[in-house]
Amino acid sequence: MKIIDGKLISNEIREDLKKQIDELKKEHIVPGLGIVLVGNDVASEIYVRNKIKACDELGIYHELCRFTEENTEEEIICQIQKLNENPIIDGILVQSPLPSCFDEERVISYVDSKKDVDGFGIYNLGALLSNDEKVIAATPYGILKMLEYENIEIEGEYVVVVGASLIVGRPMATALLNRGATVTIAHSKTKNLQDITKQADILIVAIGHSKFITEEYVKDGAVVIDVGTNRVDGKLCGDVDFDGVSKKCSYITPVPGGVGPMTITMLLANVIEQAKLRERGGYNGSKN
Ligand code: GUN
Repeated sequence: MKIIDGKLISNEIREDLKKQIDELKKEHIVPGLGIVLVGNDVASEIYVRNKIKACDELGIYHELCRFTEENTEEEIICQIQKLNENPIIDGILVQSPLPSCFDEERVISYVDSKKDVDGFGIYNLGALLSNDEKVIAATPYGILKMLEYENIEIEGEYVVVVGASLIVGRPMATALLNRGATVTIAHSKTKNLQDITKQADILIVAIGHSKFITEEYVKDGAVVIDVGTNRVDGKLCGDVDFDGVSKKCSYITPVPGGVGPMTITMLLANVIEQAKLRERGGYNGSKN
């Protein structure tokens, strides 16, 4: 069994991103990220703080636009439109979740698809679904990079993704389908979950339920990717029971130190990708 070291892979990718930024700076382009943060959700504050720290470390310009629940949806949208028009901003992210008084889907729909570095907008999701990938959301993109780094075959493999969120499960399953995997998305209403997960060559778990996936859910020799970040008694733990499952699988990602470190890195990779296309009005070809 091998533990996939997300920190190590992330650091290697960041070294490469640094070189790409240095090249851009020679052309007087500094990649720029606009962050929209609404309310005072503790987890979102931490995510945003870490994103800003990573931008500072790599030399990415950032603007944090803060709103409270007292602001109107139109005020937030007006700020997004200003960021859309700002030529020094290559990427915009609206930190999710927004407080429940706002219509998150509507707010996100105002992010210019050329600056949608989260890949949550309808255009980028549609492009992914049509196998014409533009921007892949950071967490699934990070998982693809981890599988690639470990030379884990995707084509022809049976992948089960547990969790159907727009941030992880759905784009993950679609990106794997685009790479030739046979994919099942399981979710909270799935019947006989264990019968399904036990067949997976690659099992990706993003359900937000600590240590839910025990060894009974896993086939011998499977690759297990744990996207969970649950706090239990002040300690971070995943959706997978690491001690039990690691005895059975061929590869596993730990929590912390697995998928987590990859997520911010791939967000920054998406910002840099758009900065490279700034002069040409944004947009890459396909991601292959
Ligand atoms: N909340 C949790 N993960 C993410 C993410 O990747 N992007 C945004 N915008 N919000 C999040």
